[in-house]
Amino acid sequence: MSVEYWLLNINMEKKKTIFHFKSLFRGWGRLIFFAATIISCGGKRTPGRAYMPDMVYSRAYEAYAPNNLKEKGINYLNYPVEGTIRRGDLFPYTLTNDSNGYTMSAGIKNPLLPMDSLLLPEAQRLFMINCAICHGANMDAQGPLAVTGKIGGVANLKLKQYLVEPEGQMFHVVTYGKNNMGSYAAQLDRKQRWMVVHYIKTEQEKETTKNVAAGTGATSADSAAKK
Ligand code: HEC
Repeated sequence: MSVEYWLLNINMEKKKTIFHFKSLFRGWGRLIFFAATIISCGGKRTPGRAYMPDMVYSRAYEAYAPNNLKEKGINYLNYPVEGTIRRGDLFPYTLTNDSNGYTMSAGIKNPLLPMDSLLLPEAQRLFMINCAICHGANMDAQGPLAVTGKIGGVANLKLKQYLVEPEGQMFHVVTYGKNNMGSYAAQLDRKQRWMVVHYIKTEQEKETTKNVAAGTGATSADSAAKK
């Protein structure tokens, strides 16, 4: 077979295909083409036909979704093993919600590295959302719920007893709550709780330096404390 003949053959083949494609838009071809298009655009309320069901519906067992594996006698853990830690999460806080746990919490160190300039504004934001309603934006127990007397005995975090309170103990209170203050474990995850506690400490330090500079030793809030 000569090369010229071969090329000619390819050209003819090409022409044939073009011809076939065009015939789709002629006569019966056209009718079938448009009918198929219109049918496939049918009702919006019913799901369309799945023409490759294995790709549309997963045949695998989805995590956390109901399944019948137990009836089949297959041992499958629906939930992570107890004690599993989410990637990037802090270790669980194991001290219990009692006076013993409260005392021991004083020795727990903040596991977060010193907060950079990005995390601190976020910590402040979390404090304003969750805590300022009682403790006040300045942490002096002047939040709306405290001032109106809706919640009694809100701690003035500018008082000396709280200035010296260890971060671990604050974390314990934010985790479990104390008297009129509820637990914030559901609203803030472990990292966020430590962030908020650290924010309180940073603000308190400003207070302490101010007082040291003024040479008073005591905090300004001490004398103003209503108790
Ligand atoms: C509903 C009002 C309310 C809110 C909101 C609130 N607190 Fe409190 N908080 C209190 C009260 C009341 C006390 C005093 C508890 C006591 O000692 O009886 C307190 C005490 C504290 C203490 C002192 C703990 C101790 O060892 O005595 C800290 C620290 C604290 N709160 C931090 C927070 C942080 C952080 C948040 C936000 C995540 C928060 N609070 C939100 C009412 C509140």
